[in-house]
Amino acid sequence: MEHIIVYGSQYGSTRRYAEKLSEQTGIPAVSYKDASTLSDKDIIVYLGGLYAGGVLGLAKTLRGLSLQDGQKLILVTVGLADPSEPENQHNIRTSLQRQLPAELLDRAKIFHLRGGIDYQKLSFGHRTMMKLLYQSLQRTPFEKQTAENRAFIETYGKHVDFTDFRALEPIIQAIQRETI
Ligand SMILES: Cc1cc2nc3c(=O)[nH]c(=O)nc-3n(C[C@H](O)[C@H](O)[C@H](O)COP(=O)(O)O)c2cc1C
Repeated sequence: MEHIIVYGSQYGSTRRYAEKLSEQTGIPAVSYKDASTLSDKDIIVYLGGLYAGGVLGLAKTLRGLSLQDGQKLILVTVGLADPSEPENQHNIRTSLQRQLPAELLDRAKIFHLRGGIDYQKLSFGHRTMMKLLYQSLQRTPFEKQTAENRAFIETYGKHVDFTDFRALEPIIQAIQRETI
C-alpha cells in the first residue's frame, strides 16, 4: 500500500504540519510543486494553507483525479481563522466546494488546523492585499463584522502562531483507521 502526504505552503506553517504528520505516520510528504502522479496512491492526504478562502495548490494538484474504489482522500486546511468557530468552518467548506468537484469532496474526510502569520515575512503582494482588506474592514461597523474579520483585525501587522501539533491527532487516527 502506497500513501502520500502532499502540502501547499507559502510561509511554512502547513509544511511544518505536513512534516510532523509524516514523522508520526511514516508516510512521505512532498510539496504540491514536486508531487508526481497520485492515481496509484491508496491514501492521499492534502494539506494546504488558506489564501483568500482558497487552499494553496489544491485544485491544481487534484485536477483530473478520480478516486478509485478503496482510494481515500483526506483534506486538511491551515488558516488563521479559528476553525472551532462554526461560521469559519462553514466559510472554508463553501470555498472548498468552489475548488473541487462534488465527487471528490463528498468522498474526502476534511480537517481544519490553525497556522500563523508573520507580517514582516509577507511578500509585497500579500502585504498589499492584507492592507487593503484591513482598511476596508476598518470602515465596517463592528456589529457587522464576522468572527473571522475580527480575528484578522486583532492580528493585523503582528507575528502570531497558533500552530498546535496536538491538533494532528484526529488526522493520525483517521489515517490509521484506513490502514488497518
Ligand atoms: C494574502 C493572505 C490571505 C489569507 N487568507 C486567509 C483566509 O482566507 N482564511 C484564513 O483562515 N487564513 C488566511 N490567511 C492566513 C494563512 O492561511 C496562514 O498564514 C497560514 O498559516 C499560511 O500557511 P503557510 O504558512 O503554510 O503558507 C491568509 C494569509 C495571507 C498572507
